[in-house]
Amino acid sequence: MKTWTTLGLFLLMCGSLALAACGGGGKTNEGGGGNKAGGSSTASHKRLPVPDEYKSKKPPKDLSDADLIAAGKKLYHDANTANCVSCHGEGGKGDGLLAPNYKDPAVVDLTAASFQDEVTDQYIFWRITKPAESNAYPAMSMLGYPAGSEEDNWALTAYVRSLKGS
Ligand code: HEC
Repeated sequence: MKTWTTLGLFLLMCGSLALAACGGGGKTNEGGGGNKAGGSSTASHKRLPVPDEYKSKKPPKDLSDADLIAAGKKLYHDANTANCVSCHGEGGKGDGLLAPNYKDPAVVDLTAASFQDEVTDQYIFWRITKPAESNAYPAMSMLGYPAGSEEDNWALTAYVRSLKGS
């Protein structure tokens, strides 16, 4: 029964996406690329596939850990460190001070399901750690936090995850 429900859900998901997206299978934290299609995005946002080296990375604590999220929140808002707020805005909706400079693509709304449900934790961590090599839009570079430690960047990932639907 469970198998059929899962299959039904999968088919339903595929039905609502472009046909090509079905090849990649369902999203898991380990497999696939940065999104379900493993490279070409299911939404209009382009995403590069996560390299193997990053697919196997694991956070130091569960991403729902309150201390990890709090540490990420601090870095996100701090102008002297990660400073994500300058583009992504206070609440992550993509409305930071510098956001008007970014069009096509605009600064991504980190609270949106079209982002949260399409990417793995490892994809987010990779974007933050290696903003240049993970960038599908060279003309519109997103600034991550390459100076951050692994723990810092997992903390930022945890904070980004906590923004879902907020
Ligand atoms: C200078 C502006 C700028 C800053 C600073 C910035 N970003 Fe971004 N970010 C963007 C833009 C523009 C995009 C959309 C283009 C892209 O995907 O590269 C983006 C995309 C992203 C994505 C990928 C979204 C997707 O759908 O693939 C994530 C995750 C992200 N930002 C997180 C962060 C975090 C966390 C920080 C802080 C460490 C940060 N960004 C700092 C501009 C910025």
